[in-house]
Amino acid sequence: MDSRNAVNHEHVSIFTFLALIFVLRILLMIMRCITRGASPAIPPGPFPWPVIGNFLQVREDPHIKLSRMARTYGPIMSLRMGARLVVVGSSVKAAMEILKTHDRVLSGRHLSYTQPASCPKLNQYWIGFASECNDQWKHLRSICRAGLFSVKAIERQVEIRERNVVNMVKFLKEREGQLVNMSEVIYNLVFNTMYNILLSRDVIGFGPDGSGAGPELKELTKQFLNLIAATNVADLFPILHELDIQGMQKKVRKITEKIFAIWQDIVGERRDQRSKGVGAQEDFLDSLLEIGLSDNHINHLLLELLLAGTDTTTSTIIWALADLMKNKDATSKLRDELTVRIGNKTIHESELMDLPFLQACIKESLRLHPTIPFLLPRRAIQSSKVMDYIIPKGSQVIINTWAMACDPSIWDDPSRFIPERFLDSSLDFRGNDFEYVPFGGGRRMCPGLPMAARTVPYVVASLINSFNWFLPGYNDPSELNMNEMYLLILRKKQPLQLIPRVCKKMA
Ligand code: HEM
Ligand SMILES: *[C@@H]1O[C@H](CO)[C@@H](O)[C@H](O)[C@H]1NC(C)=O
Ligand SMILES: *[C@@H]1O[C@H](CO)[C@@H](O)[C@H](O)[C@H]1NC(C)=O
Repeated sequence: MDSRNAVNHEHVSIFTFLALIFVLRILLMIMRCITRGASPAIPPGPFPWPVIGNFLQVREDPHIKLSRMARTYGPIMSLRMGARLVVVGSSVKAAMEILKTHDRVLSGRHLSYTQPASCPKLNQYWIGFASECNDQWKHLRSICRAGLFSVKAIERQVEIRERNVVNMVKFLKEREGQLVNMSEVIYNLVFNTMYNILLSRDVIGFGPDGSGAGPELKELTKQFLNLIAATNVADLFPILHELDIQGMQKKVRKITEKIFAIWQDIVGERRDQRSKGVGAQEDFLDSLLEIGLSDNHINHLLLELLLAGTDTTTSTIIWALADLMKNKDATSKLRDELTVRIGNKTIHESELMDLPFLQACIKESLRLHPTIPFLLPRRAIQSSKVMDYIIPKGSQVIINTWAMACDPSIWDDPSRFIPERFLDSSLDFRGNDFEYVPFGGGRRMCPGLPMAARTVPYVVASLINSFNWFLPGYNDPSELNMNEMYLLILRKKQPLQLIPRVCKKMA
């Protein structure tokens, strides 16, 4: 895959341009010394290397490295990534200050130069990468709320999610006793469901051989996500961005063009149908055509929603399954709950609210494995004073939710999977409890939460209710490898491969 290539490139380029940067950096440092004066300090942090700052110290497993650093430098600290200042919040207080008290001033997005949205002309098309919370961002969020995330919209999608899950269960039944790559199966399920919701089309089945544009789209969106998550030297040294040393900006542009070309026919066809008065499909695409968005606008919005919704939801489901594999007690409690409340029939989404232990398992899994451990990086649109430190205008601001998840002052026995901690507790992920913010908080909070909060528990409950699951070779579940891999999303490093056996009650 390209990400490894990108990494190699990165090495070469970093060292090639070190010399140039060194000079610039020294100039910068001199200027900073002159201008510093008596102003209040920026948050403390590790001493930065010349030129690259603290970049190499947090390159791998940044969630772990930054959590360790926070123990030395405190709940709000700062690091240098090349020319950029990164402020990291790692406590409940810091999360509240950033997401609530100073939400407005810190509501900008920091964008990597690899992101197409970093180009001012394209920024207006994006929600998550909108550089500020302006009117256009508000407008896009409200379009999505109306068409995808409102109570009414979520109810309209129930049939789509249920149909896709039934198909997946059928597919798995046909593979009883065989080793199945669940990472693949869940990705396909989530991708196809999303595509159904957005465009009323099937793109990918559950086998290795999807249909139509599915496999190509899947590959392209994966490449896109990997590229925008990888480090671009231009982000360390913005002065270089025009050069696009690693060719990343160009690659992303090419991928975007290819994806938009696939949608061109679909959107064009739908425009034709509408102009001829042929029955509207009343899906999300129709709602976008109805309000008169341009093709370019529609393409960007579809791409963003696929990118934002697919990998996050997939990774969350995979971690929940892996946690349940590892924790037999929790699984047998969950099975009991499902047997009592659901029995031997297919689960319906409307029944999810009657399954408190299921909900607790999902919450606990999201605590242990926050899908986007640093949330999406924010940017200070003005200088502000947070917890007695100055956060200068333009700084990147992140919250290390992973550090909070391992903090024994917040959770008893933080490294253990204990769903019970969420039973009889009002603690929720809706952005009001700052010790637990897997969907972020404040005005930038994940708008897709209502959809994710349906999809994730529904898929997990259906898989557990229909099947018993075994590791390859029927090995002991304690042997399941739980290593993580960070690339914007904190994924399970090894794909989850399991053997399904149909539950007796469902046979
Ligand atoms: C379990 C699944 C998901 C998780 C854990 C998740 C998590 C997040 C997080 C942490 C953020 C950043 C919040 C912040 O900056 O404070 C975010 C933003 C966003 N999410 Fe999600 N998300 C999930 C599913 C979805 C889905 C299904 C969609 C859409 C279909 C979606 C669309 C978005 C968008 C558009 C943004 C950008 C919001 C903005 O900047 O205004 N997400 N998500
Ligand atoms: C399983 O699926 C994942 C995700 O699609 C893929 O990256 C991996 O290569 C697959 N593994 C095997 C052994 O097929
Ligand atoms: C499901 O359970 C009910 C009663 O518990 C039983 O009558 C029925 O035959 C079962 N159905 C199947 C498909 O096992």
